[in-house]
Amino acid sequence: MKIPPVSRAKEAAGRAAAELVRDGMTVGLGTGSTVHFTLERLAERMRTEKLALRGVPTSLDTERKARALGIPLVGLELVESIDLTLDGADEIDANFDMIKGGGGALLREKVVASLSRREVIVVDSSKVVERLGVRFALPVEVVPFARAAVSRRIAALGATWTVRMRDGREPALTDNGNEILDCRFAGGIACAAALERELDQIPGVVESGLFIGLAHVLLVGSDDGRVQTRER
Ligand code: A5P
Repeated sequence: MKIPPVSRAKEAAGRAAAELVRDGMTVGLGTGSTVHFTLERLAERMRTEKLALRGVPTSLDTERKARALGIPLVGLELVESIDLTLDGADEIDANFDMIKGGGGALLREKVVASLSRREVIVVDSSKVVERLGVRFALPVEVVPFARAAVSRRIAALGATWTVRMRDGREPALTDNGNEILDCRFAGGIACAAALERELDQIPGVVESGLFIGLAHVLLVGSDDGRVQTRER
């Protein structure tokens, strides 16, 4: 089967991230189609190099995939800090500020990122942007009870929003039983840090997909299979 170039870029970045794991590490396991390749490479290294690690999954989807690959997992009740987290992103700018949550895993991803000594982000080059939110809508996780109230406050911030749907019929629920508002700001997001603070103050908002100052390293995969490493 011919692999489309975008997948080749994701595969290259995803596999390269797995090379950063050292024996005995506690590793945050991100979510998404790029990290999928990271998980596969980690499982390979466990078999071929006898690499030992403990994974902290950022979603039920990743938990299932890691279990199927034989990657040992540990919960946050047993982990105070995480050596290294390998995660994807929907958009990332020159400051390494990001939009995440395209796969709905933003809350657990942000908790895991906040506990991580080093957060490595794996993307294909289409995700690197000058300004966040021009192309990709910002996901905001909300408690279902508060959706109407939250959406009015978000509209007052100048955004339009849609409720993320499952099969076009009912709101998609996150792993935490919440809903997602995908929010669009005309011209993109002018100041991501200020917007994150404003969203955090709205009662009923559980978390926004803005990740500010959490990423340390960026691996950008290209269609030709090369991977560029950038440090913050
Ligand atoms: C999950 O909610 C997101 O934050 C993912 O990290 C992101 O969507 C990953 O995108 P890819 O599937 O393109 O790797």
